[in-house]
Amino acid sequence: MQPPLIVGNWKMYKTASEGREFIRDFLKLHTSQSPVDVVIAPPFTALQALHDALQSSSISLAAQNVFCEHEGAFTGEISPPMLRDLGCTSVILGHSERRQHFGEDNDLINRKVHSALSHQLRPILCVGELLEEREAGQTNAVIKKQLLGGLKDVSAEHMVQVTIAYEPVWAIGTGKAATVDQATEVHSLIGAILESTWETKREAIRILYGGSVNPDNADILFQSPQINGALVGKACLNPDSFVKIIGSAHRSLN
Ligand code: PGA
Repeated sequence: MQPPLIVGNWKMYKTASEGREFIRDFLKLHTSQSPVDVVIAPPFTALQALHDALQSSSISLAAQNVFCEHEGAFTGEISPPMLRDLGCTSVILGHSERRQHFGEDNDLINRKVHSALSHQLRPILCVGELLEEREAGQTNAVIKKQLLGGLKDVSAEHMVQVTIAYEPVWAIGTGKAATVDQATEVHSLIGAILESTWETKREAIRILYGGSVNPDNADILFQSPQINGALVGKACLNPDSFVKIIGSAHRSLN
């Protein structure tokens, strides 16, 4: 079994200097002996500052997006080798905010997944249903479509590099997290799809929960063996609450 994974998604918050300040405060609170894997995904403009500030720590860096070509005339885009060069080891793909505001569909996300994998960047693929889809009983179908579309033609060998984040859209930034039962049900479905499509062992892939995770609900969520960590937005912007969530993941191992 892999250790739990906590990913902090800063979204479009914090300048490079605010990022440096965060890391200074965070490293004072975070136990370096923690068995929990911790990843921080700042905006592109803070990657270099965080790469430098995290040099002697065990915290890894992720990007929040990447383009699917490795170089070329793509004004405004960032390639996988550029992220590798800044020390990124993983990249968040298919986040609902990218799907919703930037029109990213499963096809584009799939191209990004392949591009990331071919440059040794581990994709953290986000999937999740809208409230109206849940209410219409379409959750399982939506999740299946996003998974199979986003991971199309990924080899079984590459699948073990992938992390899935189940993020119900209605829970993101709303303060209304999924219940542990709701999350567990979808995580089981995701595990079953991965096992039946890629013959990947469930324990080889971490499935994170995301959507209003905070220090008050983390303990309960991590009690589920199906929940292998979290993708945290708002609550990761404060060193104290981020450290508390990492602490909950640590306690879940006991
Ligand atoms: P939230 O965001 O924790 O603020 O709900 C989670 C995410 O969007 O990844």
